[in-house]
Parts: sequence; structure tokens; C-alpha cells
Amino acid sequence: MASLSYHHILFLLLFIAVCFSVVHACHPSDRAALLAFKAALKEPYLGIFNTWTGNDCCHNWYGVSCDAESHRVADINLRGESEDPIFERAHKTGYMTGYISPAICKLKRLSSLTIADWKGINGEIPRCVTSLPFLRIIDLIGNKLSGQIPADIGRLHRLTVFNIADNYITGRIPESLTNLSSLMHLDLRNNRISGPIPGDIGRLPMLSRALLSRNQISGTIPESISKIYRLADLDLSMNQIAGQIPASLGKMAVLATLNLDFNKLSGAIPASLLTSAISNLNLSKNSLEGRIPDVFVPRSYFTALDLSFNNLRGPIPKSVSQASYIGHLDLSHNHLCGRIPAGSPFDHLEASQFAYNDCLCGKPLKAC
Ligand SMILES: *[C@@H]1O[C@H](CO)[C@@H](O)[C@H](O)[C@H]1NC(C)=O
Ligand SMILES: *[C@@H]1O[C@H](CO)[C@@H](O)[C@H](O)[C@H]1NC(C)=O
Repeated sequence: MASLSYHHILFLLLFIAVCFSVVHACHPSDRAALLAFKAALKEPYLGIFNTWTGNDCCHNWYGVSCDAESHRVADINLRGESEDPIFERAHKTGYMTGYISPAICKLKRLSSLTIADWKGINGEIPRCVTSLPFLRIIDLIGNKLSGQIPADIGRLHRLTVFNIADNYITGRIPESLTNLSSLMHLDLRNNRISGPIPGDIGRLPMLSRALLSRNQISGTIPESISKIYRLADLDLSMNQIAGQIPASLGKMAVLATLNLDFNKLSGAIPASLLTSAISNLNLSKNSLEGRIPDVFVPRSYFTALDLSFNNLRGPIPKSVSQASYIGHLDLSHNHLCGRIPAGSPFDHLEASQFAYNDCLCGKPLKAC
């Protein structure tokens, strides 16, 4: 048998090299989709898209990564606020204009889409993202996106994070959102979303944070929210939400933060909220009335308890001094009357926390 000639070996090496680059290079349609995505954006300061050249989009394209097995693009991770050296060298935070091209919907294996804090990106969330069945993360916080949440968002049954905070999104929260059975983190803060919270939001079994503050959300707080077993953080502040606070919110296993401030809530404060697992409770700036329930127990522990700017009447309940801790307390701007109880949670208080009531007296206000 003749030994391999020099030419044979060279050919073999070349063949292996070509095989490797074909196996590892990105899928041509993924590359084309990324280039179309890039063409719709303008990033003038950092030059991150300068790295998006050559055939292999799976290597050294800034913010792009591919699945190790399929070699299809799995993540787009572009953050305008980042510790990345590219930002330090430029001494700038990210700024980008343009829009998110629907071409990204051709990235059929996309699992995470993060285009966050670029401040200048406008246009809509491409409707077609709901056709990407592998999407787990949509994080578009801190841009200038407008238009509505895609009506059929509920198709993304793997979605765990949906964060579109700090944009100009309008319209309602689509009913289909309650079909997102994997959703853990919902952040819609600081947009222009209106209409009610879907009544069956309680169908989201994995939800742990629901942050909807600073919108124009109306309607009432759906009772079904209290069925979300894992919910730890519920922020509905600075909306137009009316009606009563469901007492069942005080029965939730792990709810620790409940911010309902700056709404149009009325009725009494449910006693359950003061004996619950909630440690951060803000009910300020509503139309709550009646007395502060006299139900505090040693289990009552509050890093913040803000009941200011309501129509609360009657005395500050004596049981308040039984609470194990109350950090930031604010009862100002109500119609409370009577002696301020003494006791350990009340040792570090200032007059301003009791100011603008009808007739409170005793330390830290003037003697009765
Ligand atoms: C939620 O999913 C179910 C089952 O897939 C479907 O029948 C229903 O139409 C969906 N609801 C909405 C509001 O999209
Ligand atoms: C409670 O909400 C009010 C109104 O939105 C806000 O001004 C206040 O700082 C909040 N209180 C705490 C303790 O965060």
C-alpha cells in the first residue's frame, strides 16, 4: 500500500478544517436574520455590531450565543448598562436607536431575547415573537418601545421572564397572558398600560414577582391573585385601581412585599394583612377608611408599614406595641385620634410619621 502523499495529507487536513467550520458555523438563515436585525439598529458609541462580521455568528459576535448541540442561535443578550469592559473603555453607557426587526422571528431556536437599557430603541415589540416556541426570556426594559403587548403572548408556554418595564407600551394586559404557565417574573412597570388586570391571573402557578406599578391600570384587584402560591412580590402602585383590598392577600404563603400605594382603593384595611407574612406593606395614598385593625401580634414584622394619606379614623391600636419590629412606619395624613401607644417598635419614631391627623397625642407628639 502506497503511503499517503504530502498532497493527500494536506487535502485531508483541509477537509477536516472545512467540516469543523461547517459544523460549528452558525446556520446561514440565523446569520441572515441577525444581519437584518443589526441593520435596523444604530449603536453609535460602543461599536458592538462591529463584531458581527464573518460567517460564524456563533463565535465572537457580541451578545450572541448558540446552542452547543444544534448550533442554532439561542441567546441575544445586549445590555446597555453592563460591567462589560467594552463599556468601561468607552466611558459611556449604552445608547441605541432604531427598532427591533421582525427578522429575529427567523431565529427559530431563540431562547432568550434581551435588548435592555438602550434608551433610544423605539417601534413595537415584533408581534411574531409569539411564534418562537423556545423563548424563555423576553427582557426589553429601558427602551422607548410603544404599541401593545402581543395579544397571543400566551402561546409562549416556556416563557419564565417577561420584562418590558420602562417603555411606552399602551393597551391592555392581554387575557392570553394568563396562559403563560411557566411565567415567574412579570415586570410591566412604568409604561402606559390601561384596562384591568385579567381576572384569572391566579392561573399563573409559577409567578413569584408581579410588578405592574406606574401604569394606568384600572378595575379591581382580582381575588384570584391570592391563589398564586409562589407570589412573593406584588407591586400595583401608582395606577387607577379601585374597590376593596381582598382579605385573602393576607393569607398568602410567601407574599413579602405588597405595594398598593397611589391608587383609588377604598374600604377598610383587611386585618389579615397585619398578621401575614407581608413585611413590606405600602397602602399610602388611597381612600382607605375605618380603623387600623387591632390585631398586631409578635409575628407582625414590618420593615415598612406605610398607611399615610388615607381616611383612617380612631386610635392607633394598642396591639401595635406587640409587633416584633416596625422599621419605617408612616401614619401621617389620616384622621387618627388618641394616645400614641408606647413600646419597643415605637421607640425610634419621629413626629412627622404621625403628623396631619385629627388629634393624636403623646410621644413623639405633644403630651396628651
Ligand atoms: C389559553 O390556552 C388554551 C389551551 O391551549 C386555549 O384554548 C385558550 O384559547 C387560551 N386562552 C387565551 C386567552 O389565549
Ligand atoms: C409608599 O408609597 C408612597 C406613595 O407612592 C411613597 O411616597 C412612599 O415613599 C412609600 N413608602 C415607603 C415606605 O416606601
